[in-house]
Amino acid sequence: MNKRWKITIVGAGHVGATTAQLCAYKKLGNVVLIDVVEGIPQGKALDLMESAPLENFDMRVTGTNDYADTKDSDIVVITAGLPRKPGMTREDLRDVNAGIVKDVAEKVSAHSPNCFMIVVTNPVDTMTWVAMKYAKLAKNRVVGMAGVLDATRFRHFISLELGVSHGDVQAMVLGLHGEDMVPLPSHSSVSGIPLPELMSKERIADLCKRTQDGGAEIVKYLKTGSAYYAPASSVAQMVESVVRDKKRVLPCPVYLEGEYGLNGIFMGVPCVLGMNGVEKIIELEMTGEEKALLNKSADGVKKSVSQLKV
Ligand code: NAI
Ligand code: 2OP
Repeated sequence: MNKRWKITIVGAGHVGATTAQLCAYKKLGNVVLIDVVEGIPQGKALDLMESAPLENFDMRVTGTNDYADTKDSDIVVITAGLPRKPGMTREDLRDVNAGIVKDVAEKVSAHSPNCFMIVVTNPVDTMTWVAMKYAKLAKNRVVGMAGVLDATRFRHFISLELGVSHGDVQAMVLGLHGEDMVPLPSHSSVSGIPLPELMSKERIADLCKRTQDGGAEIVKYLKTGSAYYAPASSVAQMVESVVRDKKRVLPCPVYLEGEYGLNGIFMGVPCVLGMNGVEKIIELEMTGEEKALLNKSADGVKKSVSQLKV
């Protein structure tokens, strides 16, 4: 019999609860949902379990406020923290969320010292750095979620523009998860046809800009919080790649030690995710202009990390 994975999701809010739902529906493993607020994880877990007879899954979803219940988790997803409101940047969340992520990383790793950790809390490149530091995990055991979301937004906009199936669109977005992220049209394609052969430079630039502003576009509509359906789908895809050892090539904030000429920061680059966590970092050929944009992105992450108070 195949082993059943234990997936802990810290933060039972919009992203956390939707991720729990997807992990259960995709039969990725048993899910423990944990939050500081009493009743919320328990209530959401029970509600989800009551959909099991209809959705036909045998996975268990439990809710708790006690880290002892997360013991020996294989995967830990951190979504705990504040989301932004209209007018705020992700960076505005840094100080308050750094304290939360530090606390969560220490508690969760005390019970699951060998877990694979996926950090979602914003500003995610910086929060992943905080999580690795306080969870004391090896660099291949910690990753952020950002590029998968940014690339899926880019794919959607390309698909809309060209009137073609989402499934045929591939896109790559590197760099920090913020306005200075770096969509790469030269590494984006439709059924192998490079994007620049299908669209004018001007339209490509418009879609890149919409991708960079993708999170803010949703915040503007929602007003009280940020996106969660596409973010949760992005996390679930990453979890699936690990649990099923799919070795998907996904852009994620990973710890860089010399790759792309960068050191000591987490930032989005393509990597292979499999049963052993981050199994490989892939270095792309980039134009001088693309490299300059990536370096600007890295400067933003370095500045954010240097201003941390934890
Ligand atoms: P939310 O407000 O719906 O949920 C956050 C949850 O965290 C709440 O239930 C809250 O009680 C809980 N929480 C707060 N402090 C905690 C602690 N110390 N321990 C455990 N739980 C704690 O927010 P939402 O929409 O789920 O977003 C969560 C975070 O994820 C935000 O920082 C948001 O900016 C970020 N995010 C990042 C994305 C990315 O691409 N990296 C995409 C979407 C959201
Ligand atoms: C987003 O891009 C909130 O960072 C999140 O939607």
